[in-house]
Amino acid sequence: MHVSNTIAEWQDRRRGLEGRSIGFVPTMGALHEGHASLVRRCRAENECVVVSLFVNPTQFNDPGDLAKYPRTLESDLAILRDVGTDEVLVPTMDAIYPNGYEFKVTAPGLTNLMEGAFRPGFFEGVMTVVLKLFNLVRAGRAYFGEKDYQQMKIVNAMAADFFIPTEIIPCPTVRESSGLAMSSRNVRLSPAGRGKAALISKALRGADARRVLEQAGFTVDYVEEHWGRRLAAVFLEGVRLIDNVPIEGEGHAPLS
Ligand code: PAJ
Repeated sequence: MHVSNTIAEWQDRRRGLEGRSIGFVPTMGALHEGHASLVRRCRAENECVVVSLFVNPTQFNDPGDLAKYPRTLESDLAILRDVGTDEVLVPTMDAIYPNGYEFKVTAPGLTNLMEGAFRPGFFEGVMTVVLKLFNLVRAGRAYFGEKDYQQMKIVNAMAADFFIPTEIIPCPTVRESSGLAMSSRNVRLSPAGRGKAALISKALRGADARRVLEQAGFTVDYVEEHWGRRLAAVFLEGVRLIDNVPIEGEGHAPLS
């Protein structure tokens, strides 16, 4: 496994991969079994597995959230080595944003809902960094978790719109045995909070999810139905958690 810390070093490595099938898993590090499942799938389907670890400042609207984001480089590298990663990119902010945050991708019509509505600038930051990473890696396939369902849909739409020759592969949400969706933010919950957070995915299976969550003491940003799924963002112990599940049974409002 090779770790590139500069763009020049990565581009040199990338030249050596010409002609091989490349799979890419972009992450912000603090890796857990959810990330590992994406990397394993990538390992199974490509000759070369590339993973990026970059806590992207432009997608944090709350500076406190950025400061508190867990950074666990050594254990991340151990996990990646274990799963069989070939190339790891660990760029700096200045390397990814040589002009500061001057150029950005926006898609107002697509990003005014749910995460985009509650986290101004979030999807601009995500789309911009993903476009930069896609151009650096030039992968045949890129793997995204359904845990961040709206992100996966928006990245897919952006890649199509900009004629990016990278296929977006959606991967199922990995959960704790309690049903709690794995997330880098879960480590900020108390043991009791972690137990309580298991209610999120259970509540989402019912049409009255918002009421159930509010009664249980969660602060609810939204519960909405799109793409045949019920999606939510809630706060617990000051930690913002998102999840979504397929809607079983009757009608829902699809979003193109
Ligand atoms: P991050 O939150 O680190 O997630 C990286 C990838 O892992 C995303 O595609 C996410 O959906 C997936 N993932 C996270 N938890 C998962 C789980 N429990 N099951 C399955 N997949 C899971 O998402 C980001 O980083 C950033 O926005 C990024 C796309 C890297 C751009 O900065």
